[in-house]
Amino acid sequence: MPTQIKYTASVPENSDIAYIINADNLNNVPHLSDAERGFAQNQLNQKGTFVYLNRYTHKVYLLIAPEKKSRAFYQEELRKAGYNLQKVLKTDKVKTLVISDLTETNSARFLAVGIFLSNYEYLKHKTKPTPTVLETLLLTGPDLNEKEVSDLHEVQTAVCLTRDLVNEPHNFQSAEQLAAQITELGKEAGFHTEVLELIQIQSLKMGGLLSVNQGSIDPPTFTIMEWKPEKFQNAKPIILVGKGVVYDTGGLSLKPTPNSMDLMKSDMAGAAAVAGIMYAVAKTNLPLHIIGLVPATDNRPGGRAYAPGDVITMFSGKTVEVLNTDAEGRLILADALTFASKYSPELVIDMATLTGAAVRAIGKEGICMMGTASEEVKTQLKISGEHTYERLVEFPLWDEYGKHLESDVADIKNIGMAEAGQISAGKFLEYFTDYPWIHLDIAGTAFLTAPDSYRGKHATGSPVRLVYDYLASQVKYKNS
Ligand code: BES
Ligand code: MN
Ligand code: ZN
Repeated sequence: MPTQIKYTASVPENSDIAYIINADNLNNVPHLSDAERGFAQNQLNQKGTFVYLNRYTHKVYLLIAPEKKSRAFYQEELRKAGYNLQKVLKTDKVKTLVISDLTETNSARFLAVGIFLSNYEYLKHKTKPTPTVLETLLLTGPDLNEKEVSDLHEVQTAVCLTRDLVNEPHNFQSAEQLAAQITELGKEAGFHTEVLELIQIQSLKMGGLLSVNQGSIDPPTFTIMEWKPEKFQNAKPIILVGKGVVYDTGGLSLKPTPNSMDLMKSDMAGAAAVAGIMYAVAKTNLPLHIIGLVPATDNRPGGRAYAPGDVITMFSGKTVEVLNTDAEGRLILADALTFASKYSPELVIDMATLTGAAVRAIGKEGICMMGTASEEVKTQLKISGEHTYERLVEFPLWDEYGKHLESDVADIKNIGMAEAGQISAGKFLEYFTDYPWIHLDIAGTAFLTAPDSYRGKHATGSPVRLVYDYLASQVKYKNS
């Protein structure tokens, strides 16, 4: 059973408990014996940041609050402390942990997130799984309430569901299977889903999606998710678009295997994130009208595969010269972006493992952002990036980059130059938008080949926490 994060008004007796404390203030830790206080003080004097008290009926973990260099740094240090604590909890076989912040910064949630996400395991394909035993994190404190903590639980659960979708191997996840998995999440969370099948995609003439799918033996899908609660505050919908390439071989422009094709079951991480965000939005009942769009297919060579040199006609009617079949993400996303237009959206945010160039530019430490949305939107997104530590770096969409995509034979070509590849990809997408739009290239953050604290190894769930935080920031409360 997955871990639960819950609120508790009172601390159950003899429960394992973690206190966040200031280094100079052991006094407000309840129920410490003189011997324990002396022991703890001694450890603190030696600049320890963690004190372990084993009472045999239960354990007490004292965590010294991090430096307050900035709010973002402080909160991230607590998430990382959660990662370290999770290892101890695992050794101690702790089932229920109470978290109490005694520092008056109301920060129990950050430690909880670090523990919760570190506790994630992908065990579906182990024949003898040995899951960790942690069942419940109980948050307590005067500044917390049931709703906040249950929202926190839903969002972190959404992150883990996203990670499950991304970690799922391609032989368990065709485009149709991905659509079915998203439909299941919709049923569970309460958002509506509709899956367009091959004939519908054909009759709509989604040439980008159909071309990428040509080498495949499995049909493409186009999944439409919708969350429209009884009361919502935005007159026009916010649309989320996710790249759903369930496997990217590169197509005829075939990828090499090591550290390249062998990672490409993760090329639907954008799609998984959209599904995860929809899940979180529905479960937490955000009063916003939100639509999710996921074009999905695998990209492979095959008898009918599209070929470098082909000219294809997109859903928008524009023509594209395909010079590299491995630049497939932008082709399927372009059709979804055109589709988004019919809703007259307030804002469209797409998320995609789009380019290796994004990884080379800023690595796994951030997301490449581009777009035509207002400065206000971009600023709020960057703030959300700091809050969640899913940080954004904005790249320009200067006119000059349009030149990188000029084609001799079609309206535009699908690859740019050797330089600024993440920007020419963004520029390509821009060509298919006519509304305020944000592009998030998550190629660096969505899937890691080495463990990175609470983000784990493999799927991270990026950018679910970021985009949820942004959406939640758009909700206006009457009393604030
Ligand atoms: N899915 C890849 C991008 C990618 C690379 C994601 C590494 C995660 C890690 C995308 O479809 C791709 O192949 N992009 C090409 C584009 C190029 C041919 C213009 C790339 O970045 O090499
Ligand atoms: Mn590719
Ligand atoms: Zn791809």
